[in-house]
Amino acid sequence: MKTILKTERVLSSEVVQRVGEEITVSGWLHKKRDLGGVTFLILRDRHGLVQALVEEPHEREKLRGLQVGSILTLKGVVAEDKRAVGGAEIHRPRITVEVPVEFPSPIEIDKPIDHRPETLDTLLEWRVLNIRNPGEMSVWRIQASVGDAIREFLTQHEFVEFHSPKLLAGSTEGGAEVFHLDYFGKEATLAQSAQFYKQIMVASLERVFEFGSTYRAEPSTTTRHMTEFITIDVEMGFISGMAELTELMSALINHVCETVWRKHERELQALHATRPVLAEKFPEITVQDLHELVFRETGQDFRLEKDPAPFEERWICEYSAKHWGSEAVFVTEFPASGMKFYHYRSETNPAVAERADLIFCGVEIITGSRREHRYHKLIEQLMAAGGDPESPGFKYYLQAFQYGMPSHGGFGLGLERLTQRLIGFRNVKEAALFPRDMNRLAP
Ligand code: 4AD
Ligand code: MG
Repeated sequence: MKTILKTERVLSSEVVQRVGEEITVSGWLHKKRDLGGVTFLILRDRHGLVQALVEEPHEREKLRGLQVGSILTLKGVVAEDKRAVGGAEIHRPRITVEVPVEFPSPIEIDKPIDHRPETLDTLLEWRVLNIRNPGEMSVWRIQASVGDAIREFLTQHEFVEFHSPKLLAGSTEGGAEVFHLDYFGKEATLAQSAQFYKQIMVASLERVFEFGSTYRAEPSTTTRHMTEFITIDVEMGFISGMAELTELMSALINHVCETVWRKHERELQALHATRPVLAEKFPEITVQDLHELVFRETGQDFRLEKDPAPFEERWICEYSAKHWGSEAVFVTEFPASGMKFYHYRSETNPAVAERADLIFCGVEIITGSRREHRYHKLIEQLMAAGGDPESPGFKYYLQAFQYGMPSHGGFGLGLERLTQRLIGFRNVKEAALFPRDMNRLAP
């Protein structure tokens, strides 16, 4: 490959390899300490931190009044110093102040950012600044690697990435959680998922996926819900049942954990993450069995609930880690009374839908299901759920089935929830750069 973007600038991680040489570094003033006759500087760049020792009075004078965040270029000689960050230090630099900052930073960038639940609002209020903290920088790197690993895995298995619109004529998931908007005087909605489009695409490419923004009018302020988030939507044609889907999900999540822990072990440890214990194929428990087990073991009664309760999600992952060797567990056989119209009702047990949710380290990160692919049956289920097959929201979706759709299924994986639980954050918003909820539309 041709080398591009080459500059004189040496990055912080490369400084230690340049002992004895004169080099140029540029970055943000991260920390400044005046000690009698010398000033210690720490500069930050995209690779990390580098230390410099300033002794000359006229160079020290340039730093007077400069606040954290100022952009500096230093030209100086590298000396080995085991005590310095990165194992080397720049001596006697000539300093150029590229952009002076006069405002004192409202938060301490050089200390780990507070992630206690009671300070979450402060964390989000100063997000524009705390993304400059090295620990927070690694959160976004880890999230990007999660995305890379997912793309890599799916692409290797012949899934093709596509993009679907987020401005829709009707809702995809139904329910109350749909944002309505005025579209040139007509009614439109924001996509609650890529559900219909990924199914439509099965009739073209068989195996598809999308990384897409998803919108839900969640009027709740839980630790697991936002109004905008990223889902990785995956869909696969020619499946014979749920087994292929649970195999795919198990292999995908194992690949992501292995890859991300290999690439980011040091950063994950610095964030106090622990490596999840995962079986090759994740264990499964039905919704009913989960309720019964939880009732028997803890006395908490959720037996009338259609979905696992948050308490049960946390509990089953701990139980499964201990007894089944996996902190990821599938919950299966959801009651048909709560199913979406596009779900496939089990032939062997019509009281349940063919669906599997993946609970990963205490939180649901995936909902997957086999879909009803038979045209007449689908229309029947749609109408029973109160949908109008002629409305523009359903009409084109149904065309795909009218003209030939194989047996298929897929799943939606929440990127922020996966990142959250990989790192061990308590709230999904800690794993979202600029989260949106009922009370927050900025930054
Ligand atoms: O479980 P959900 O609602 O499933 C669907 O959207 C289906 N169309 C998926 C399918 O193919 N059957 O959403 C999928 C995932 C959840 O498991 C969760 O990880 C994440 O998206 N998610 C949210 N993340 C943050 N905030 C919210 N409000 C979320 N709602 C769902
Ligand atoms: Mg779900």
